Amino acid sequence: MKELIEKAFAAREKAYAPYSKFRVGAAVLTADGKIDTGCNVENASYPVGICAERVAMSKAVSDGEMKFKAIVIVGSGADYCTPCGMCRQFMAEFCKGDFKIISAKSPEDYKIFSLAELLPHTFDSDSL
Ligand code: THU
Repeated sequence: MKELIEKAFAAREKAYAPYSKFRVGAAVLTADGKIDTGCNVENASYPVGICAERVAMSKAVSDGEMKFKAIVIVGSGADYCTPCGMCRQFMAEFCKGDFKIISAKSPEDYKIFSLAELLPHTFDSDSL
């Protein structure tokens, strides 16, 4: 847990957030124990920007990894940073309800949520 949180903090250093100034880092743990990281990458055309969570998970998927155990998210605000709705849906494509979403303020101060808790009544491939 500590390593995953530290990697999310390190990833936040690379955040490209000149518009919102809200810097986010993420570190995702794959089923086989690999860690991929990401940061938010904004754009002058605002909707083009991408969240840290989707960067981290897309890096893993593009490496052939589609099974995940947990993701750590580190935001910039005073409160615990939880994923936006689009990221929750993105996670649901690859993760079941027991996927752990950990929002950290520091390596010692974090909250653990499950995907089922943050995205109940999910629409996924089973819904088609
Ligand atoms: N953001 C993330 O990267 N992850 C989150 O969980 C919340 C929001 C980014 C998107 C945008 O670059 C900035 O934070 C402000 O919304």
